[in-house]
Amino acid sequence: MEQDHQMTKEDFEATFKKLPESAIFRLPLSLVHGVPLMKPIADQWERVETFQARPDDIFIVTYPKAGTTWIQEIVDSIMNDGDLEKNMRAPTHVRSPFLELFPPPPMPSGVDALNITPSPRLVKTHLPYKLVPISFWEKKCKTIYFARNLKDNAVSCYFFDQMNKSQPDPGTWDEYVEKYLKGEMSWGNWFDHVIGWWNAKDKHDILYIFYEDMKEDPKREMRKVTKFLGKNLSEEVLDKIFHHTTFEAMKENPMANYSTVPNIVFDQTISPFMRKGEVGDWMNYFTESQSKMFDTEYEERMKGTDLKFRTTI
Ligand code: A3P
Repeated sequence: MEQDHQMTKEDFEATFKKLPESAIFRLPLSLVHGVPLMKPIADQWERVETFQARPDDIFIVTYPKAGTTWIQEIVDSIMNDGDLEKNMRAPTHVRSPFLELFPPPPMPSGVDALNITPSPRLVKTHLPYKLVPISFWEKKCKTIYFARNLKDNAVSCYFFDQMNKSQPDPGTWDEYVEKYLKGEMSWGNWFDHVIGWWNAKDKHDILYIFYEDMKEDPKREMRKVTKFLGKNLSEEVLDKIFHHTTFEAMKENPMANYSTVPNIVFDQTISPFMRKGEVGDWMNYFTESQSKMFDTEYEERMKGTDLKFRTTI
């Protein structure tokens, strides 16, 4: 873990430059139990499947670009009882390792990083419910699922896939929306993800919360998270956490804005990791017919569930 933090951005950059392009750039997807995942994950799937959870692990689960980094920062702040100096100890990916990530060595895989992370660990994953390692549930770990509406999620993914060179080339926006709706994406289909976790929420210790609600009233949602984590924080501490985790504060925070990842992987000149952080930005990109297509699919796929999303607040 610390070894990762001690590798400088320049060390990472030098390491990447020595690797063949195929090891880092535009990685192909490969199916794992029917879900498309980046090939290095599929190749080492057994390591994910056999991951050993600890009872005090906290799992932070999202579909990609639902606001993972935001909820990770909030949870870390709460676990540190609002002592924000502690949040500055390392970048997000070190403080809360990404379970199924397998970057090329010498960068540690998520599993290796987690194995040497002291408890209580904050474990990030994008896995759909059906792919979660069984140990999660055997150890009865607390799980926070953070969900974001389909349209804003799609726009955020589109910009991210342009700047994150490890993801398949997104192509044009028109091409992307088609692929997105079909679920031909890393970690699969948005509907399967949000519904799968919604249906699981009463079977395990899962708190299911929404990006839109967090934008609308961050302190209200933070109180829910605090209670779920068994913490008791004063309003003053919650205020501190609120200010620390605004979009503006996180955009400037080098321990939260992914500026520690080399530009050849995350090219933040194409699109910053902290891009807009809004609800309703989809209106700037969807044509009327694309919006209708998404609405029709949404109606169809959400039939029979009481899960509801807001695309504006
Ligand atoms: P946008 O691309 O819409 O701006 P993830 O962490 O899952 O990769 O999600 C990234 C998305 O969350 C980006 O959305 C990013 O701007 C947004 N985000 C990150 N921190 C945020 C914050 N503090 N408040 C609101 N949105 C935030």
